[in-house]
Amino acid sequence: MKVYGVIGDPIEHSLSPIMHRAAFDAVGMDADYSRFRVMEGDLFEALKGARVLGVAGLNVTVPHKERVAESPLLVNDETAENIGAVNTVDLENMKGYNTDASGARRAVESHGVELSGKRVTMLGAGGAARAITYEFGYSTTHIDIVNRTESRAEELAEELTDSGIDSKGYSLDALEELIPETDIIVNATSVGMKEDRSLVPSGLLHNEHIVFDVVYNPLKTRLLKDAEDAGAKTVDGAWMLVYQGAEAFELWTGEEAPVDAMNKALRKSLKE
Ligand code: ATR
Repeated sequence: MKVYGVIGDPIEHSLSPIMHRAAFDAVGMDADYSRFRVMEGDLFEALKGARVLGVAGLNVTVPHKERVAESPLLVNDETAENIGAVNTVDLENMKGYNTDASGARRAVESHGVELSGKRVTMLGAGGAARAITYEFGYSTTHIDIVNRTESRAEELAEELTDSGIDSKGYSLDALEELIPETDIIVNATSVGMKEDRSLVPSGLLHNEHIVFDVVYNPLKTRLLKDAEDAGAKTVDGAWMLVYQGAEAFELWTGEEAPVDAMNKALRKSLKE
């Protein structure tokens, strides 16, 4: 039997076991998936120990993604290296990946969204915003980063620009001006999580917008409700969770992930 798992701190709320066990069941694979709470100072030893124990692969969640990217034990792929964060480890080959980035892309593309030629407004300048802007930026035309702390938005935009991605940073005040002109709005802040609040004034949304919220609890955030009311296309945060898991499954097994089974299991557990 193959063993996989997720490391983080805290870890008890991770939904990854539900999704991956559903995937293993769906393809008839003899494998299991567990949660492991690992503290920051023990991270590298945990990676080494897991390999010695024969654990085949690990997901990495907050707050460890950046630190694992610095592990001398792993060789990171280009995306993980650019972003500076690893969320998936192949312990059989000691490689680090970032499937949050590709998961976000698959989440929107699975809803018929083409990234090329689009203008993006990214809400947030933290880890999630960083992963998504790096992934979308090589396809889209321009990315505006809008953040409560303007300096963080400017820093991320400068870094993206240095990597050849056309980008500019703003404070939240710029939303009024930017939203009507943008194609894709991404919320990569925690605003909307367990609260009925959105950073985007509802009157700015229109029916040609594509609105993607990284928040998955609740599934329908205030931003997505407002977007639906305006007739916009919406993509909820559970899709990103499903596709980052699907990408990890594919890296570990070399098989196509049973996305439907993973999506159903995740949504069932989110509703409970
Ligand atoms: P993650 O890795 O999940 O992206 P993070 O790095 O802590 O987490 O980033 C959280 C993001 O949500 C940041 O952009 C943060 O804005 P600041 O840079 O100003 O802190 C944003 N955020 C969190 N709470 C917010 C709030 N109440 N209003 C506006 N933005 C908020």
